[in-house]
Amino acid sequence: MKALVLAGGKGTRLRPLTYTSAKQLVPVANKPVLYYGLEAIRDAGITSVGIIVGETGPEVRRAVGDGSRFGLEVTYIPQEAPLGLAHCVLIARDFLADDPFVMYLGDNFLIGGIADQVSAFRAGGYDAQILLTRVAEPQFYGVAELGPAGEIIALEEKPAAPRSDLAIVGVYLFSPVVHQAVRAIGPSDRGELEITDAIQWLIRKGHSVQSHMVSGYWRDTGRLQDMLECNRIVLESVDRDIKGAVDTLSEITGRVVIAPGAVVENSILRGPIVIGADTKISSAYVGPFTSIGADCVVQNAEIEYSIVLDGSSVDGVSRIAHSLIGRNVEVSRASGPPYTHELMVGDHSRIQVRS
Ligand code: G1P
Repeated sequence: MKALVLAGGKGTRLRPLTYTSAKQLVPVANKPVLYYGLEAIRDAGITSVGIIVGETGPEVRRAVGDGSRFGLEVTYIPQEAPLGLAHCVLIARDFLADDPFVMYLGDNFLIGGIADQVSAFRAGGYDAQILLTRVAEPQFYGVAELGPAGEIIALEEKPAAPRSDLAIVGVYLFSPVVHQAVRAIGPSDRGELEITDAIQWLIRKGHSVQSHMVSGYWRDTGRLQDMLECNRIVLESVDRDIKGAVDTLSEITGRVVIAPGAVVENSILRGPIVIGADTKISSAYVGPFTSIGADCVVQNAEIEYSIVLDGSSVDGVSRIAHSLIGRNVEVSRASGPPYTHELMVGDHSRIQVRS
C-alpha cells in the first residue's frame, strides 16, 4: 500500500500567506498541517509516499526532505498546474504502479489518524473508499447522497443545491482500478479533473465504492476560521511543558508550552498556548488558543485565539484576537499626531481595525 499526498494548489483562500508559502505548511500548534498528515500515514503502516508539488514545491521539499525523519520514503511528483485531484492520480501513475493507495489532501486535518480506515479498506477489498462527515456548508465540498442502506447514490463536486450535508473528506482509498476512472473523465466547469467525478464513474461502472463516516474532528484548513479552529483543537490536548525562561513577575496558567530559548517577562500566559523557540514575551498577555512561532516578539501587547508565524513582532497593540499573522510581520503602535493607522499590507490581506 502506498500514499499519494497532495501538496500543490494555489491556496487562494489563505492569501496573502500563500503568495509566499505553501498552504500545507501553515502551522497548527507550531507544526505544519502537512506533517500531521504524514504522521497519520506512517502510523497507518505506510512508508512509500508520493507528494504532488506545484509552484511551492521547493518549500515543501525543504520542509519534508526525503521523509526519513517521519519514517517515510518520499518521492516528489511535480504537477505543472493545479489541474485537479484526479489529474494528480493521472500523473502519479508510474509511482503508484498497481498498488492500492491512500490519497491524502495535504491541507486536510483529521484527528485520530487513518489506521482504522486503511484496515477497513484492506479487509473489505473495495475498489474505493471515501470518508464522509456532516458539515454546515456542504456547497463548499464534494457532497455525497446516500441511499436507505447507506450506499452511495451520487457524488457531486461543490453543488449549488447540495442534496445532503455529507461532505467528502480529503482522504480517499483506491484500488488500481481508479486509473481507468481518471483517464475516462473530462474536466469540470472549473476546468479541473475532479476526483469526485472519477469516483462517480467507478460507481456508474458497478465498482464497489464504500463510504465511512468520520467519527473524529476533521477540517479542510483552506480558510482562516478553519486554521484557527484546528489550532484550538490541537492546543486542547497539549501538555504543559516549560523549557524557556520565565521570570517571577510572570503568571502562567494551564497548559502552556514554552520552547527552549524563549523568554517570558512580566507577562500573563493563559493556556492552552504554545510559544516557539527564541521568542520573547514581555509585559504582555497571551490568551487561550494562541500559537506564537519561533523568533517572535510580543511586548506591551495582548493577543488570544490567534496564530503568529516565525519572526514576527506584535508591539504595543491590544487586543489582537481571531488573527493569522504571517512570517516576519511587524504589528506596532503608531505614535501621534496625526492619529492615523499606518499600513503596508500585501495583496489580498484583510485588516479589521477597531478605533
Ligand atoms: C477537495 C475535493 C472535495 C473535498 C475537499 C475536502 O476540494 O474536491 O470534494 O470535499 O477537497 O477538503 P478543494 O479543497 O480542492 O476545493
